Amino acid sequence: MSKPNVYVTRMIPQEGIGLLQATCDVEINPHDRPLTREELLEQVKGRDGILCLLTDKIDAEVYEAAQGVKGFANYAVGYDNINVPEATKRGLPISNTPGVLTDATAEMAWALLFGIGRRMIESDTFMRSGQWEGWGPMQFIGGDVTGQTLGIVGAGRIGTAMAMKSRGFNMKVLYADAFQNETLEQELGAQKVDLDTLLAESDFVSVHVPLLPETKHLFGKTEFQKMKKTAYLINTARGPIVNEVELVEALKNEEIAGAGLDVYEFEPKMVEGLKELSNVVVTPHTASATVSSRGSMARLAATNLLAMLEGKEAPNCVNPEVYGK
Ligand code: DGY
Repeated sequence: MSKPNVYVTRMIPQEGIGLLQATCDVEINPHDRPLTREELLEQVKGRDGILCLLTDKIDAEVYEAAQGVKGFANYAVGYDNINVPEATKRGLPISNTPGVLTDATAEMAWALLFGIGRRMIESDTFMRSGQWEGWGPMQFIGGDVTGQTLGIVGAGRIGTAMAMKSRGFNMKVLYADAFQNETLEQELGAQKVDLDTLLAESDFVSVHVPLLPETKHLFGKTEFQKMKKTAYLINTARGPIVNEVELVEALKNEEIAGAGLDVYEFEPKMVEGLKELSNVVVTPHTASATVSSRGSMARLAATNLLAMLEGKEAPNCVNPEVYGK
């Protein structure tokens, strides 16, 4: 019997590739870049399964090209790159990689919080430029962290982990979410508040909602104006949740103190003016980029794809309706 034929749209850690290679014929995008649209449409043809990335737009055109495919396993927890309702209509399972990048992403949110709050990149650049002439009482004064108020927008897995890690800094935690988070309330005395209250009272606002039609541009001019002038915005979720043009304006006009960003509205581009600002710290969508997280993501994505190929329910299927649920 011939082995299932699987395509991986970009090289991922061996933990996942090895699992697939044990039972499948595996082809991997040979380039160290995302596939072009044409390449993607060509490469999905005749495959039994696809392991795809958040940089691949998976939509009706791809499903049409991938006739006979048994499913798509996304190598990410977020799956806004995939048209899930269209997949469901066609009976195609889609999976993601939840749980294994929670701490890594929360850690990155903290790294950005300190990076911008304590002006780490500005200071580093200053040191390397040879300008430092000795200790100065007014040099690089930043924001306080200990005892300040942390506002968590979206208290799911990653938002909860971000909040829990505030314990060492004795912070007051506010959260805005549709659901009550008992863990945060019991462990931290966190308060569930509406978004306006959170914006008005927080010193650090950290974004952890998924990108959905309802969360696109959740943050724009109006929201920045509701924040304290001394507050910082941290985004490790998805770029389009923040109107980036309006963020640049708010940062330029010092309507907020700064921003720490791992994600961008038009990745891989940053909007004009962002990179020139000193009150922003930017990283290249690397919140999950730790050895163990990326290895576990690879393993989980491969495990999901193997289940789909065997006609079994993928453990992290995001559209279980395809299994009649
Ligand atoms: C995700 O998993 O959604 C992150 O953005 C990348 O790891």
